[in-house]
Amino acid sequence: MLWAATTWFRKGARKGYDMVRTRIARINAFLQEHFAGAQTVQIFNAETKSLRKFQEINADYREANIDTIFYYAVFFPLVDFIGAVGIALIIWYGGYRVMSNTPAHTVLTLGALVAFIQYSGFLFQPIRDISDKYNVLQAAVVASHRIFRTLDLPIAITSPEKPLKSGRVTGHIEFENVWFAYKDDDWVLKDVSFKVEPGQSIALVGHTGSGKTTITNLLMRFYDVQRGRILLDGVDLREWDLKSLRENFAVVLQDIFLFSGTVAGNIRLGRADISDERVRWAAGEVRAEPFIMRLKNGYEAEVKERGAGLSVGQKQLISFARALAFDPAILILDEATSSIDTETEQLIQQAIERVMRNRTSIVVAHRLSTIQRADQIIVLHHGEIREQGTHQELLAIRGLYWRLYKLQYADGSRTERASLPDGEESNIRPAGQMQFSE
Ligand SMILES: Nc1ncnc2c1ncn2[C@@H]1O[C@H](COP(=O)(O)OP(=O)(O)OP(=O)(O)O)[C@@H](O)[C@H]1O
Ligand SMILES: [Mg+2]
Repeated sequence: MLWAATTWFRKGARKGYDMVRTRIARINAFLQEHFAGAQTVQIFNAETKSLRKFQEINADYREANIDTIFYYAVFFPLVDFIGAVGIALIIWYGGYRVMSNTPAHTVLTLGALVAFIQYSGFLFQPIRDISDKYNVLQAAVVASHRIFRTLDLPIAITSPEKPLKSGRVTGHIEFENVWFAYKDDDWVLKDVSFKVEPGQSIALVGHTGSGKTTITNLLMRFYDVQRGRILLDGVDLREWDLKSLRENFAVVLQDIFLFSGTVAGNIRLGRADISDERVRWAAGEVRAEPFIMRLKNGYEAEVKERGAGLSVGQKQLISFARALAFDPAILILDEATSSIDTETEQLIQQAIERVMRNRTSIVVAHRLSTIQRADQIIVLHHGEIREQGTHQELLAIRGLYWRLYKLQYADGSRTERASLPDGEESNIRPAGQMQFSE
């Protein structure tokens, strides 16, 4: 009976704990998201909705806890009850034996009976104790299950056992009939081939979702291609030593990420071999120094979580300084589409120019100035390369690029723009930015 009760308790408590863990994870995720996105929630007046949602998952959590407690609430009294029944039986039967007139050698003395009662307590106390420890153990087992499940996920991208190549590259890049899908055969890149010579810069242009960022992800081997191959200095990326491969790149991403710490720490980003002088030099080269000096404490100024407290332009300048300080063989730049004031815009353009100098660069370009400066422009459309060439060449063939360009910048665009309702044109296309739309 005791055994049956323990089994029932063990199974129930385990299920309960699993539930409690999952639900507390949901609460944590929700809180994290909503603290980070508090402003968005406020802007869209979604406080009531968020509150209701929170109350819901909170209630779920409470219920899971109550479910678990239910097993305890039944189990421990049950153990006590069984214990009490045991003692009652001992007293009943033992008492009868003490008082009855049976032959002398079978008489139970009062002392023996009392000892018996004591001993029965020794039996039940450990059972209670074990169950109590089991409680702690259960929580740990359930938690470790979740941790191991994550740890056991296979690492898809690994360095080859015998890398064919490592070290600094000269910067020769080649995509050879690359096909890629994030999942199944939902092709994001279709038969993409192009070459970049060392020191050259290429601009990737195309409407949103055409696969520009994907190309840069593949180049750093965040994913492996399904068909075709990507060569760096003539060697397939999969044959490269992974760490060494990635050391060759510096990346300035579409949305810039700063870590909490100091400005200098964000430029250096954990690389101790980058000296203070180098940090200052890099910041000076991209003209980030003036604004950094204006901050309280200069280079040692505190950067808050994810760079809160700095403007978008300032964050971009810091990330350019970071790229320059690292002096990578290849620069990958995913230009942000958000437009900034003209003065900062100019600063950024100069910074981009400085970082790209004498370097192989792949730029997902939105600024006309960056696009024009590129040695080669690749126009992507639904994951395929539609056109390829220099700015002038592409304009000459009067294809997709020409149409896009004409729509955005050239004087010929007046006819198209005239058909728009008044006042809309400035909203649709921020000055100096190529916004591709289908
Ligand atoms: N991690 C991912 N998992 C699944 N699909 C993805 C992932 N990242 C991107 N995609 C899909 O791949 C396609 C290409 O995305 P990509 O980010 O390369 O576009 P993009 O050209 O950089 O667009 P944008 O100009 O908006 O940055 C899109 O359809 C997108 O939905
Ligand atoms: Mg992108």
